[in-house]
Amino acid sequence: MATTQSEVDSVAVDGVPGAPLLEVDDLFVEFRTRDGVAKVLNGVSYRLDAGETLAVLGESGSGKSVTAQTIMGILDMPPGVITGGAVRYHGVDLLKVSARRRREVRGSGIAMIFQDALSALNPVFTVGFQIEEQLRLRRGMSRRDARKRAVELLDLVRIPNPAGRVRQYPHEFSGGMRQRAMIAMSLALDPEVLIADEPTTALDVTVQAQIMDLLKDIQVERNMGLILITHDLGVVAEVADRIAVMYAGRIVEQSDARSLYRRPGHPYTRGLLDSLPRLDLKGTELTTIKGLPPSLLRIPSGCPFHPRCPRAQDICEAEVPPQHRPAPGRLSACHFAEELINGE
Ligand SMILES: Nc1ncnc2c1ncn2[C@@H]1O[C@H](COP(=O)(O)OP(=O)(O)O)[C@@H](O)[C@H]1O
Ligand code: SF4
Ligand SMILES: [Mg+2]
Repeated sequence: MATTQSEVDSVAVDGVPGAPLLEVDDLFVEFRTRDGVAKVLNGVSYRLDAGETLAVLGESGSGKSVTAQTIMGILDMPPGVITGGAVRYHGVDLLKVSARRRREVRGSGIAMIFQDALSALNPVFTVGFQIEEQLRLRRGMSRRDARKRAVELLDLVRIPNPAGRVRQYPHEFSGGMRQRAMIAMSLALDPEVLIADEPTTALDVTVQAQIMDLLKDIQVERNMGLILITHDLGVVAEVADRIAVMYAGRIVEQSDARSLYRRPGHPYTRGLLDSLPRLDLKGTELTTIKGLPPSLLRIPSGCPFHPRCPRAQDICEAEVPPQHRPAPGRLSACHFAEELINGE
């Protein structure tokens, strides 16, 4: 039987049989700046399986992008320093493999799309050229085959008239079409994991929903692992299987999406849910979480959320809450996780 492209990809890193597709394990990252040491990631762990959509949710500055950059091997170092943890892809720690190995994985094993498609695309080359270049350099395709594949990819992301569009420059595309082109580019090397970092933030609400649907369809079709990074719980409600909530460089709650919406296991998640506009509660006042996320130069003692938490007690300031498992498949770093999930 002929070897398929995905088989070639999966041996780019010799995997450990049976290992999860991607696993971030107790990751610590600091930024050493003139103002001091910002502790940006403080033990982040999450895992992603094939065919799964994980939403990583949290306010701006909580470390969502830094985690993604560390997974991709594109963290700004210095000032960034990885001080602990592992990023395992098929069980192999990418933080320990050679730079060459890392480059092989980037794009073909794990690919990423960014919030701002305009600055991620090169304005002086056609969209087609930018897709074809990867195929020629990384897959050794001829110009002709690469062009054919680029047209197929634009078609896959539902860009009308792909054969004409492939010859156009990024500025000739609307915002939504550019984001589709970015998605096409990220899929060129058939990645197993796609990380989408706030892929719809710059777009209007209707286009946002279309792009989310597109990502979800592609994820299901290709049985990819998809990590959707967002600060907006509303955007991922329909598409996420699991949700990891980040606060001050930690995962404070992890759960299947349905249970989390029904009964959040952490006061921070509750605050995010309560600040969502709800169609069924028109006219009711939205509550927002009081205060601001902490400075990562001086993270509050105990539970880092305590200065903003409506449930905080003395223990919250004194003791860092451990990761509780209040229900199967659920994690919560709150002293009162059990009560929140299993209480009255
Ligand atoms: N290159 C950098 N230099 C210094 N600090 C950085 C750098 N990149 C990110 N940070 C800091 O790391 C923290 C987390 O950032 P980020 O992961 O981008 O947050 P978000 O959750 O919004 O994606 C922020 O406080 C940010 O200022
Ligand atoms: S540990 Fe305390 S401060 Fe932290 S989220 Fe739970 S109740 Fe709030
Ligand atoms: Mg970000």
